[in-house]
Amino acid sequence: MSQTQPEAPARKPRVALLFGGRSGEHAISAATAAGVLGAIDRDRYDVVPVGITRQGRWVVAADDVDRWRITDGRLPEVTADDGAEVVLSLTQGEKALRVLEPGEVPSVLGDVDVVFPLLHGPFGEDGTVQGLLELADVHYVGAGVLASAVGMDKHFMKLVLAGHGLPVGPYEVLKPHEWTADPEACTDRVAALGLPLFVKPARAGSSLGISRVDDLADLPAAVEAAREHDPKVVVEAGIVGREIECAVLGGRDGERPRASLPGEIVVDDTHAFYDFEAKYLDEAHVQLSCPADLPDDVTARVRDLAVRTFEAVEAEGLSRVDVFVTPDHEVVVNEINTMPGFTPYSMYPRMWEATGMTYPELVDELIRLALERPTGLR
Ligand SMILES: Nc1ncnc2c1ncn2[C@@H]1O[C@H](COP(=O)(O)OP(=O)(O)O)[C@@H](O)[C@H]1O
Ligand SMILES: [Mg+2]
Repeated sequence: MSQTQPEAPARKPRVALLFGGRSGEHAISAATAAGVLGAIDRDRYDVVPVGITRQGRWVVAADDVDRWRITDGRLPEVTADDGAEVVLSLTQGEKALRVLEPGEVPSVLGDVDVVFPLLHGPFGEDGTVQGLLELADVHYVGAGVLASAVGMDKHFMKLVLAGHGLPVGPYEVLKPHEWTADPEACTDRVAALGLPLFVKPARAGSSLGISRVDDLADLPAAVEAAREHDPKVVVEAGIVGREIECAVLGGRDGERPRASLPGEIVVDDTHAFYDFEAKYLDEAHVQLSCPADLPDDVTARVRDLAVRTFEAVEAEGLSRVDVFVTPDHEVVVNEINTMPGFTPYSMYPRMWEATGMTYPELVDELIRLALERPTGLR
C-alpha cells in the first residue's frame, strides 16, 4: 500500500458511518456497521455512527459493536429511540451534521470529512444517498450516483455490460405494466429462455424476492414474489456453473482498479440456490472458499473480467463482481455489487485477506481513497 497521507486537517478526519436504511437489507447493513466499528483505527479517525431507521430518519447511533451484530439469528434494527435525529447540511462547503431536538435550536454535531455509506439495496446502494452526499459536497466511500444506480438495476447493469462487450447471460425484462396487462405474452417471452429460470426483482439484493422456477406453472407466483420488492422484474435463463466472486478496489492516483484473488460460494443441496437464508442465517450449509480452486488461466480471466466490469459501470472505491464459471470454463458476469457484504466474515473482505490486505487495512484504504478523490464531477 502506498503511504500517501490524506490532506492533514488539524484534527483527525471525522468519518460518519451510515447504516440501516429503508431497504430489505437494513439488518445486514447494521451488521456491517458492527464490523466496521470494531475495525476502524480510532487513533487515525473520529467515528460518528449514524443509523437510518426503516422510515428513513437519520439518528445518532450507538458506537457499540454488540448493539449492531447479528446474534443467534436476531436481526438488529435502527429505531427512532436510538438517538437524536440528525440531518446533513446541504449548504455547499458546510459539511455539517446537525442535531434536531424538538423545541431546541439545531446544534452542530460536527463537521464530516468523509461519509462511509454501509448501505445495501434501494435508498442506499442505488445512487439516492450518493446523490444526497453529492449535494452536501462531502467526500464519501464507494461508487457515485450513476455507477450505484446501474449496479443496483439488474436490467441496466446488463445493458451497460453487454454494451462494453462483456459476457452476460440471456434474460428478459418484465416492465411494471407488462405483467399486469398481459401475463400470457410475458410467459411466452420468458419460456423461450428454457428452464430453469431465475426470477428476480430488478432492484433488490441479498437474494430477496428471487425464485428459481423449474416449471412454468410456478412462474406467476415467482413474478408476484419478485414484484413485492420491485414492480420491474428480470427473468434469466439458469446458468450451470460454479459461483465465483472477485473483490475490486479502486486504483490509487489514477491507476487501474485492483482485483483480489477470486473466492467461491458452494451451497449444499438443502438450498435451491444461494438464497437469503443461505447467505445470512444458515452458515452450516454454505462454504466460502478463498482463494477459489481454479486453474491459473481461469483465475486470471475472472480477475480481468472483474476489473473490466468495474470500469464499464465506472464504479469507484469498491465493488464485488460475481460470475459463473461454466463446466467448459466460460466466465459469465452475474452481477456487480457496488456495496457488497462488508462484515469481517463477508466474502469481499475475505478475498482481500487472502490477497494480503487485512480488514482494518481495507477500511483504512477505502477511507483514504474517498478522501483523495475530489467531490463534484470527476
Ligand atoms: N441466471 C442464474 N443462473 C443460475 N443461478 C442463478 C442465476 N441468477 C441467480 N442465481 C442464483 O441466485 C443467487 C442470487 O442472485 P443474484 O442475481 O446474485 O441476486 P442478489 O443481487 O440478490 O445477490 C445467485 O447467487 C445464484 O445462486
Ligand atoms: Mg448476488
